[in-house]
Amino acid sequence: MKEVKNIKEMQKLAEEWRKEGIKIGFVPTMGFLHEGHLSLVRIAKKLAQKVVVSIFVNPLQFGPQEDFRDYPRDIERDKKLLEAEEVDVVFIPEAEEMYPQGFQTYVEVTELTKGLCGAFRPGHFKGVTTVVLKLFNIVKPHIAVFGEKDYQQLMVIKRMVKDLNLDIEIVGAPIVREKDGLAMSSRNTYLSEEERKSALSLYKALQKAQELVNSGIKDVKQLKEELKNFIHQHPYTKVQYIEFVNPETLESVEKVDNPTLCALAVFVGKARLIDNAIIKP
Ligand code: PAF
Repeated sequence: MKEVKNIKEMQKLAEEWRKEGIKIGFVPTMGFLHEGHLSLVRIAKKLAQKVVVSIFVNPLQFGPQEDFRDYPRDIERDKKLLEAEEVDVVFIPEAEEMYPQGFQTYVEVTELTKGLCGAFRPGHFKGVTTVVLKLFNIVKPHIAVFGEKDYQQLMVIKRMVKDLNLDIEIVGAPIVREKDGLAMSSRNTYLSEEERKSALSLYKALQKAQELVNSGIKDVKQLKEELKNFIHQHPYTKVQYIEFVNPETLESVEKVDNPTLCALAVFVGKARLIDNAIIKP
């Protein structure tokens, strides 16, 4: 596996591959990799001839009170995991090269970012779309793979690609869970043993949402109330939001009459965790 740090070098390599007609697959990450990331890599390997994984903790997508400094990092471990997956290139740019003095150009998807995480993390998606577009321009992929755990992010990226006519196929990949159902996340590492038990309440709440709907409750107000009470029965939890939205437009619905995305953000101790599932009527 080749390690590339320099933007020009990555662009040159991608350009050479493209000239040879090689299909490039890309998995952007912020590192501290887990099985969820590796599942994206495996999908990219199936769909492309060369696979690039980037590791970059993007300062632009963290708010001033968020965990940019504390975000877990272990580049050496990440490299070993990617090597074992036979990734072709790991791209690890420096923040100084990504955002040099004078940087002032941003990309924003305006509507899809208003609700869910966007409502609580101002500027977050602007940071995500800006860095992802930059990475696309550097890695020049034909396809890029994103996890469905960050469902809103996936939809926002798809919108950006469509709106800006980028010639890149965006592939969504299913959520990878621990044996007991907890969605894999680099932030799970913040959890103490006791908090880890409470963190399972997100997954259980999604299952409960489906059970409630199966039992005939379709009213979203009632569903939200029941789920919030359920999660708060678990110590160290604080619900940030529970939303039921149209999976395409991300607009809130009042009744679960069609397949509906239930999305949650919950603080468990200091860890802000998210999860989601499609609830069927
Ligand atoms: O999902 C992530 O890890 C990040 O938001 C991404 C897509 C790598 C952009 O920094």
